[in-house]
Amino acid sequence: MSVEALTRSEVFGQLRRDLYGDEQSSHSNTHIFIILGASGDLAKKKIYPTLWWLFRDGLLPEETYFVGFARSKLTVEDIKTACLPNMKVTDEDSESLSAFFSKNSYLSGRYDDAESFSQLNAHLSSLPRGANANRLFYLALPPSVYHDISSNLKAHCMTQGWNRVIVEKPFGRDLQSSHQLSAHLSSLFSEDQIYRIDHYLGKEMVQNLMVLRFGNRIFGPIWNRNNVACVVLTFKEPFGAQGRGGYFDDFGIIRDVMQNHLLQMLSLVAMEKPTSTASDDVRDEKVKVLKCIAPVGLSDVVLGQYVGDPDGEGEAKRGYLDDPTVPNDSHTPTFATVVLYVQNERWDGVPFILRCGKALNERKAEVRLQFTDVPGDIFDLRCQRNELVVRVQPDEAIYLKMMTKKPGVFFSPEETELDLTYRSRYKDVKLPDAYERLILDVFCGNQMHFVRSDELREAWRILTPLLHQIEKEKISPIPYIYGSRGPNEADDLVRRVGFRYEGRYKWVKPHTA
Ligand code: NDP
Ligand code: BG6
Repeated sequence: MSVEALTRSEVFGQLRRDLYGDEQSSHSNTHIFIILGASGDLAKKKIYPTLWWLFRDGLLPEETYFVGFARSKLTVEDIKTACLPNMKVTDEDSESLSAFFSKNSYLSGRYDDAESFSQLNAHLSSLPRGANANRLFYLALPPSVYHDISSNLKAHCMTQGWNRVIVEKPFGRDLQSSHQLSAHLSSLFSEDQIYRIDHYLGKEMVQNLMVLRFGNRIFGPIWNRNNVACVVLTFKEPFGAQGRGGYFDDFGIIRDVMQNHLLQMLSLVAMEKPTSTASDDVRDEKVKVLKCIAPVGLSDVVLGQYVGDPDGEGEAKRGYLDDPTVPNDSHTPTFATVVLYVQNERWDGVPFILRCGKALNERKAEVRLQFTDVPGDIFDLRCQRNELVVRVQPDEAIYLKMMTKKPGVFFSPEETELDLTYRSRYKDVKLPDAYERLILDVFCGNQMHFVRSDELREAWRILTPLLHQIEKEKISPIPYIYGSRGPNEADDLVRRVGFRYEGRYKWVKPHTA
């Protein structure tokens, strides 16, 4: 049967069965998705648009309602106006869009006010079959209000169906604050009700890491300290604080990107094969990797902060400290390179290099394994090291840099690549956005791509002493120019630990017919 011939709930059912197995705990077919912080930036830019795409594509259960809650006095029409620019609506969508908003409602109230949550509960129960509906609560809010909200939700808004709470980062700002938050949440909800979002775990190529490693014979035997010289995990953005300085300055790039996105990717690259693809089997292995990493010392770190490029245009002229939302004397790093070691049998001695930064030369997130030299060289040092690169974004790709005979009458080695570029290999496949996958997972009760509390604790354990030292000693970041590759000292550090950059590799775009 074609997908078109199925009703929405049949598609949902099929997808759920295919991907996740049957959802036994579902007491009801009605679902209510509650967005707490519905007036905010995240709700407007990500959550509402994602819900709309899932609704439009028929991936949500038939009877799903959406309820916004925030302090501002708004109407559904206001929400619609605020979200429309981010929703990618076409002319053909108008009927579906009206249907979507007809399932929406909005309520204003205070986050610390029990009465507001009683009213919210009364509203949820007043929706068709709402009293027993499954409820998904999305906390699209700063963590400062998590405490009050979660207590009020638990006291006033639980249903006979299932209740799941989706929490956005930052989950605390160090080991201690994260522990307090976790302890509070786990006093109210069981771990299987808490979905901590790290949206990198919803990205196609991040999810692909497990299949690539454990679904192929060829990588397993070389995925270890005998063959891998180093692993580089990179996150680069070509823009700066962009008015988000108020939030960013309090956190810095290590908390914003490294503690979560990069450490999550690292654990997927380094973990042992889980006993199955069940959520907890996977997360058990991820947490074991993190447990093998010692806290980072300052000698394995380079910090940077961008300054304006006098020759640049527009934003590039402005340094981090020129941003009006950033304090003039801020020491907050906007760039960091950190070297970690996974002290276990597989990885002992192999440097894992984590690099992240804002206002750099390009947008790029990737995982790169650089392999060791071929022993017993017979080609007069003309062979470069093999590299396996998984490019998460932009333009998803996997490429393996390797030596081949220079084509023709030559007998000399030449560097080339085995290239799996998704855009050319999977031309008509539309890859879902990370939030689409993750929100769907919450409906389906699949926690594999969400962060468990022990993973979170270990990630903070690794970085908290460094973060405290940076703050206590007011360590000055090294200035780098907006639009550059970051401070040269970062390249010196990665060279020192064993990454080799020859600068000879030139990628030639393949011919297309
Ligand atoms: P490069 O040799 O250019 O870079 C390899 C690594 O070296 C990168 O991690 C890079 O980091 C780093 N590096 C660059 N300059 C220096 C330096 N001066 N000192 C130390 N390290 C340095 O090879 P790539 O594998 O990155 O490929 C080059 C280009 O070709 C890329 O844009 C890639 O996307 C493209 N390509 C695309 C393919 C596809 O679309 N399928 C397939 C193969 C390649 P940094 O990120 O900081 O520059
Ligand atoms: C967020 C960070 O978690 O990830 C932002 O807080 C960053 O600073 C963003 O810009 C990057 O996400 P993506 O999906 O655009 O790579």
